[in-house]
Amino acid sequence: MNRRSLLKLVGRAGGVAATFATMKAMGLIHAEATGAERPKLTAQSGSGTTVAIIGAGIAGMTAAYELRQAGYDCTILEARDRPGGRCWTLRAGDRLEEQSSSQTCAFGTADHLYVNPGPARIPYHHQALLGYCKEFGVPMQVIVNENRAAYFQDDAAFGGQPMLNRRVVNDSRGYMSELLAKAINRNALDEEVSADDREKILAFVRSYGNLDADLLYQGSTRAGYVTPPGAGDVAGDRHSPIDLSELLKSSFWNYKMHFAEGYNQAATMLEPVGGMDQIAEGFARQVGHLITYNAPVTQIRKTPDGVRVVYTDGAGSEAALDADFAICTLPLSVLSGVDADFSPAYQQAIAVGAESYVKAMKIAFQCDRRFWEEDSGIYGGISWTEQDVTQVWYPSAGFQQPGGVLVAAYIWTNSIGERLGALSPADRLEAAIADVEAIHPNLRQEITPNTGLSIAWEQVPYSEGGWIEWDDDALSDAYPLLNQPDDRIYLAGEHLSYLTGWQEGAVLSAHQAVRSVAAQLQAMQA
Ligand code: ALA
Repeated sequence: MNRRSLLKLVGRAGGVAATFATMKAMGLIHAEATGAERPKLTAQSGSGTTVAIIGAGIAGMTAAYELRQAGYDCTILEARDRPGGRCWTLRAGDRLEEQSSSQTCAFGTADHLYVNPGPARIPYHHQALLGYCKEFGVPMQVIVNENRAAYFQDDAAFGGQPMLNRRVVNDSRGYMSELLAKAINRNALDEEVSADDREKILAFVRSYGNLDADLLYQGSTRAGYVTPPGAGDVAGDRHSPIDLSELLKSSFWNYKMHFAEGYNQAATMLEPVGGMDQIAEGFARQVGHLITYNAPVTQIRKTPDGVRVVYTDGAGSEAALDADFAICTLPLSVLSGVDADFSPAYQQAIAVGAESYVKAMKIAFQCDRRFWEEDSGIYGGISWTEQDVTQVWYPSAGFQQPGGVLVAAYIWTNSIGERLGALSPADRLEAAIADVEAIHPNLRQEITPNTGLSIAWEQVPYSEGGWIEWDDDALSDAYPLLNQPDDRIYLAGEHLSYLTGWQEGAVLSAHQAVRSVAAQLQAMQA
């Protein structure tokens, strides 16, 4: 039996996955690269092969860019009139359409007056995405993700008053260190820790928590000053420590206090200069000529020779694109509503994913005076609150310049997103102002009139959700299935990665789809 007929037999019995595995075992396919390695397909290996890519977001454009390098003939169908999908920036004059509302951005025209309604930050280790940004000339700046000058606010603690982040963080650390020192000195940890290590831990927590010589936390300059140090005889008057029991009234320790320690949230965090859509524009400079805009896909059919993608063209007529392969990057919330020839198991897995999207929201407005900088010395970063708005983001663009865009709410709790998302844009704004006034009491008079914007991602056509969050069950059945092709249809996007909610996930998933298409083509040609 020759190689080709063996592979055909394997394919008939076990499908594409079995063919790949056999080819790998036979040394016909080289080990797949992982991480930030690009697919690096053999030049011209895709000549004469057509690929229909559905969606000109980051995944779709990454796939097109890589496949083109190997000579594939790619067409990208995009429902919107712009590239990027959720990678998007709103500036003066831009429109924001939801299913039942339409808003126009009324920010000023200065370069720093924008909001990224979707992705807004990039961790330093998202090197696949950052690699493309570098290659496509998309400059980055630091986005401040954590700020000791910002606030924690909770009606249940501190009399509802906003409390400086640096006081909450450093007083908490001081008390926890003191308690550990006491436990060690009362021999409570003798079984766990050797005598030698006990001394070292005492020295550690003394420094870590800024304890005094008696290993007590009596406050620290780390928590800041009521009167700051100055010249001459102004030594400064530091804050008294907050009582431990007062600190414990709030659940800031749950995640907000150490949010910026997260693998994907720790410094250095970056953002493109001038708005996140600069990344979409960078990709579009490479593959924009392959994109058909205003072309929402209505059907995905399997044909004897590949795939037929039916869409509505710019004139409102039905049109079809036939291709050897398809890579579909639609969010599963959207894909579940497309008439497609997926196998029943695949369709079921898509339906599971469709229910797993975060009802994320952002609410933003312009302020002519950067009062957070002028009055509170807050340069970028986040204030956290237990109010619905969850967090207030201060801009890292345009420090000390006139005006800035404040993200007054970034909601990622479904129950809140559902409740506030159901309101009109004007009512969402009112709700956000009321919440943020608990942190910034004079907020209302600082807002530049009529500049409010809100987005409830669940209601945005062609997105229908913020990002996916797979639960453990879905990760063990729906997710692995959707990472396989259904015949010649491949899925890609942040939803098919372990970096959901990140553009890096979209890029890596596109790489995976590209490698798999190439391997299937190789298998077909063997
Ligand atoms: N990656 C998104 C964020 O950082 C979810 O908020």
